[in-house]
Amino acid sequence: MKIPPVKGTRDFYPPDMAIRNFIVDGWKKVSLRNGFEEYDGPIFEYLKMYQIKSGDEIVEQLFSLTDRGGRDLALRPEITPTLARMVNQQINALPKPIKWFSVPRLFRAERPQKGRLREFFQWNIDIIGVDQPLVDAEIIFTTVDYLRNVGLAPKDVKVKISSRKLLAAVLKSYGVPDEKLESLYVVLDKKGKLPADTFEQMLAEQVPDKETLAKISEFMQIDSIPELGELIDAGSEEFAAYNEIKEVLATLETMGVGDFCIYDPGIVRGLAYYTGIVFEVHDAVGDLRAICGGGRYDNLLRDFGGPAISATGMGMGDCVLEILLKEKGLLDQQVPKRQIDYFVACIGDIGNEAWRIIAKLRSMGYSANISYKTGGLSKQLKEASAQNANKCIIIGEEELKESKIGIKDMATGEQELVGRDEFFSGLDSAVVGTE
Ligand code: HAM
Repeated sequence: MKIPPVKGTRDFYPPDMAIRNFIVDGWKKVSLRNGFEEYDGPIFEYLKMYQIKSGDEIVEQLFSLTDRGGRDLALRPEITPTLARMVNQQINALPKPIKWFSVPRLFRAERPQKGRLREFFQWNIDIIGVDQPLVDAEIIFTTVDYLRNVGLAPKDVKVKISSRKLLAAVLKSYGVPDEKLESLYVVLDKKGKLPADTFEQMLAEQVPDKETLAKISEFMQIDSIPELGELIDAGSEEFAAYNEIKEVLATLETMGVGDFCIYDPGIVRGLAYYTGIVFEVHDAVGDLRAICGGGRYDNLLRDFGGPAISATGMGMGDCVLEILLKEKGLLDQQVPKRQIDYFVACIGDIGNEAWRIIAKLRSMGYSANISYKTGGLSKQLKEASAQNANKCIIIGEEELKESKIGIKDMATGEQELVGRDEFFSGLDSAVVGTE
């Protein structure tokens, strides 16, 4: 009986694993160079942790289970609640600000589609304990730093920035009551994701009053900071939020990534816990789902029983990113191919000598392989080429008698005969632990 893989999961064969490692290694490298420290948490948590503040969409997508003790658990659909829990747990001991990153494996029971699976990896960067817009800019800068690092340019991707705080203040000034805000956010978040008429219809259902509806529609059309400035009165609640966006964009300009970034009121974000600046990165053509998303969540730690401490961050999945990098031809050149330093090829029966050489090379820190089949030299050289061996060590009875080995450079094809001991003493040991 053949058992198929579970819908929405992936098998990572070695070439797929090489791509995954390339993506994850890049995330880690960029996190470290931007001053973040790595953390991780458990893959499952109490179910109620996600029911508190992640929002209905995430709750509907949970993979939940009951353990033998009758406890309701869920596989993590995101790591932000775990981060809030961990930080609250050691709030007094942790040096602030907290600037952490993680690459968790996540699970969401979504309908699998292009760029959305049921199991995926997500890069997270978060800064906790600083309430200045400068820090939101730092999160966005780090995100762009990664995108640039893998070869994406402003013509390929756009960071769309907005503010929940601004939206809340504007909607309140239009007479929308507090308790309607959350359901309205869910609809407004669909602006760029649905056909215009479907969006308008959904919005009209949420906002029955024609005048309010017209004002909201007009606000959602504004896509430049100067235009936004004209609409907002100095001294109003909206004005403070407007100034925050301006400051974030100005900081990003100063840091040299302004051409990646734009103001877009259609970015509201699906998750319920965002309170301030929010952003998403999209492919410039707009064909794919969001590459990443994040924002400020100043109440989450408090909602999880901790102190009122501000936080901001973002999450980037590996799926859409991989599709885009493939489309742009950026993977072929950059993903490292399988490669080994030495392949040991034997001519005839040379007893254990080949294994002695292999073991010595490996103990010196070199990667080395050998064929498990007894075949002719040409077959072994083929195997060496398939593994991208840098050099081939060739050894037969003749060489053995004279304590010599043949070294073939696989790139040039040049071959030389050298003394075995001379060869080894000429090698720098690449790691500690040599014999
Ligand atoms: P999110 O918008 O739910 O935010 O997810 C962020 C990113 O994760 C998405 O833009 C996408 O790249 C990826 N993603 C989400 N769902 C899937 C899926 N089913 N398959 C593949 N990729 C997916 C969060 O998760 C927030 N916790 C991010 C955050 C961190 N905000 C502040 N700190």
